[in-house]
Amino acid sequence: MSGPDLATLVPDHDRLERDLTELATYVDPDAPGWTREVFSDPYRAARDWVRRQMVDAGLETTVDAAGNVVGRLVGAGSGKPLVTGSHTDTVHGGGRFDGVVGVVGAIELVRRLRETGTELTHDLVVCDFLGEEANEFGLSCMGSRAIAGVLGAEHLDRRDGGGRRLGDAFERFGTDPEGALRLAWAPGSVHGYVELHVEQGPLLERQGVPIGVVTAIAGIERLLASFSGRADHAGTMPMGERRDALAAAAQAVLSVEREGCGAPVHGVATTGRIESGPGAFNVVPDHARVWAEMRSIDAEWLSGAKGRIAEQIASDAAERGVEVVLEWLNDQAPVPTDPSIQDVIGAAADDLGVPWSAVPSGAGHDAAHMAHLGPMGMIFVPSRDGRSHCPEEWTDLADLATGVHALGATLLRLDAWSPS
Ligand code: GLV
Ligand code: MN
Ligand code: MN
Repeated sequence: MSGPDLATLVPDHDRLERDLTELATYVDPDAPGWTREVFSDPYRAARDWVRRQMVDAGLETTVDAAGNVVGRLVGAGSGKPLVTGSHTDTVHGGGRFDGVVGVVGAIELVRRLRETGTELTHDLVVCDFLGEEANEFGLSCMGSRAIAGVLGAEHLDRRDGGGRRLGDAFERFGTDPEGALRLAWAPGSVHGYVELHVEQGPLLERQGVPIGVVTAIAGIERLLASFSGRADHAGTMPMGERRDALAAAAQAVLSVEREGCGAPVHGVATTGRIESGPGAFNVVPDHARVWAEMRSIDAEWLSGAKGRIAEQIASDAAERGVEVVLEWLNDQAPVPTDPSIQDVIGAAADDLGVPWSAVPSGAGHDAAHMAHLGPMGMIFVPSRDGRSHCPEEWTDLADLATGVHALGATLLRLDAWSPS
């Protein structure tokens, strides 16, 4: 491709490393790993840090009603913006790279564009979206949902385990929940959205390929199953006469796992949490709850899995005389990335002489919601041993830099691209 010299856009490795290291200092000192959960004090401090980096990089920076930190590099022409970004919240006990890479990588790219005098025609908007990770309110991607116009009043009425309302949590954090409901950018108002992210799985490392072009983002179905049985003396009640809620819940855990193991394409099923009571050695448990989820890029498998799991759990519980209530929470449907953007990312990697491979995303991303606003794509970089959502999460600096470079090459191509 003729145009700007791509070699000049190589990110500054030291700056990238410094940014990752600095951002990693904003964590909960009393929690494991790198914990920076949404609405927490370290999260607030980290976002101030992100805002300062955006301002210093030359971005016109605002914090919108939903708490997204949004920086704009004004382009030479008019028209719809190019948008990139990701998130800086983490799961409890999480790592340093999930989401962070797409934010600090985009800021470093802006620095390189300005330092090399590379002017885009389109505005380039960089977002640090509020609260991407699933939280105690059972909602992920809160900031990008607001921008995409899919955050509803019913979401703000959700309550966490302590009975606190999500809308009130927004307010306490200094954001404007009512304003967030009116924030929506117009459908079709984005020229192209591209998010750089760590893969969080093992495919790229196993293939020895530094860049992944994401084909689709998995859909997620979440299940809260509540079991009610009967408390009895654990020493005296005969085995065949019990109504053991925890045993029914344990069977549900295995049914969920079995469904994931039997998935024909990309499909996974996980129980992330189980609780039961009264919780003594010598009492048969009378209640239990199970939090589980299924994910796949295949909508048909996902809805089939949902039905099969519901049936299995209900019939296993009934055999034990245990009642079960199943509450389903759809997080998102599978979202394919735009084929044209996939082509552009592949061509950009070719421009850099970097091997790439097409991969699905088993993780959820803000990109899934930004797809409401315009053509969307994602660039992955390898995760060591496929580990993520744990302190061991790691991506080599060289791979991160390749990802930032590929993001730059992609955005330059998209700047000159018109959708057909
Ligand atoms: C977010 O990281 C998710 O996939 O749950
Ligand atoms: Mn993420
Ligand atoms: Mn995550």
